[in-house]
Amino acid sequence: MSRAGELFENGRIQDAVTAVRRLIAGSGKKYYVKTFGCQQNEADSERIAGMCEDMGYLPADSPDEASLIVVNTCAVREHAEKKAISVTGQYKHLKNADPGLVISMCGCMVSRASRAEQIKKSLPYVDFTFGTSDIHLFPVLLSDRLAGGKRRFELPPDNPPIVEGIPVRRESGFRAWLSIMYGCDNFCSYCIVPYVRGRERSRNPADVLREAEELIGAGYRDVTLLGQNVNSYGRNCPFGCDFPGLMRRIDAIDGDYLIRFMTSHPKDATRELADTIAGSRHIAHQYHLPAQSGSDSVLRSMNRGYTFDEYAEKAGYIRRVIPDVTLTSDIIVGFPGETEEDFEDTLRLLRTVRYDMVYSFIYSPRRGTPAAEDPAQVPDEVKGERMRRLLELQTGISSEINEKYYGKVLRVLIHGKSKNDPGMLETRTEGGKILLIPDDGTEAGEFVNARVTGTGAFLLYGERG
Ligand code: 5AD
Ligand code: SF4
Repeated sequence: MSRAGELFENGRIQDAVTAVRRLIAGSGKKYYVKTFGCQQNEADSERIAGMCEDMGYLPADSPDEASLIVVNTCAVREHAEKKAISVTGQYKHLKNADPGLVISMCGCMVSRASRAEQIKKSLPYVDFTFGTSDIHLFPVLLSDRLAGGKRRFELPPDNPPIVEGIPVRRESGFRAWLSIMYGCDNFCSYCIVPYVRGRERSRNPADVLREAEELIGAGYRDVTLLGQNVNSYGRNCPFGCDFPGLMRRIDAIDGDYLIRFMTSHPKDATRELADTIAGSRHIAHQYHLPAQSGSDSVLRSMNRGYTFDEYAEKAGYIRRVIPDVTLTSDIIVGFPGETEEDFEDTLRLLRTVRYDMVYSFIYSPRRGTPAAEDPAQVPDEVKGERMRRLLELQTGISSEINEKYYGKVLRVLIHGKSKNDPGMLETRTEGGKILLIPDDGTEAGEFVNARVTGTGAFLLYGERG
């Protein structure tokens, strides 16, 4: 049975919101959300913050000011899990000083029964946990705990609902995440996501469009559509709207804004999508198309559903129909069984496609996924050495591509003062590249033109032009 379309305003959740509001009314209590992981988690954290404010909490600048802390975890690599546990461990002394402090964990890591059990046993100061598909239950869990209920460790249901109407507190006034679907059905053999975010389910296009209209109407300039595999948006749904169709409907909204999307699985990336981007008014000329590897045999063991040649053909088509596209990829180095020859195929893919940028990751075994059971694990030194070679090659390619921008005038969106370069404003090009210009006091959220005066592998410099 599909439970899609539930509303946050349902009785049980609203009763909990009201109960917490009454309990903390006028107390000035604050909340703090710590986020690990991907854009989906950032989007989820904005909804957790929205619910906290709906219940009457105020935002805290640091965890030690807070009466409520939520740690939103990631499970994609082991490092992210260790970080979440160690950061939560640092909150123990806050709980000792203030036993009324509520500490909660949510997200991908705690959606696994084994991890939830581990946290229950080893982090006794954690009050409750909940997974990504149970975010709407946060007020219920909080209200029960504040009323003296037991610690709870909620695991995701088999058939999670899509819940509309959860309040959102967006971090930015000009950039926004817009989730169009949840979960993943691809089961790439290295990846934990399908086990922790559940089966793929798409939001109703009417709900997506309404949110897009609200954002654009409120002056948002840069809206990123989110899904684990946006190309399968609408699949197995009665809506009669696929991803290119959804993009065209959003693109028809008038306004001064850009739409982006993440992430597109190469096996489902169609020519129609590339043509839609090329013919659009508002879709950014940016395409993130994670290859993961260039070796046919590794791609087969990863269960990716395409070969080197099929991938290169699709990437070539994208570059042909969108000549100024910024094309990026994710690559995993040291997948089980990856030979020197396999790795060289990955380097060959980088040379063939010539990405603007590559996000590269050392393979991290995730218990419960098929690849973690593979006896042919690659030794750490080999992984490290391959990573170094990949970065060296890609840094050269990125530098060469960026050099071609020298002297060009680009339309960029001001993001705010640069943290690393005092006196400079950080901006983003349509392709998502960082471009720094001298700070002339222009407000964040404005589009301006900038002439490129300097280039590097990871940065462009410019002046208002
Ligand atoms: N080890 C290393 N990298 C991984 N990714 C996903 N699972 C793993 C893993 N087990 C990477 C993939 C994916 C990105 C978000 O994270 O490249 O595209
Ligand atoms: Fe993981 Fe593959 Fe799904 Fe991406 S498409 S979330 S890599 S299983």
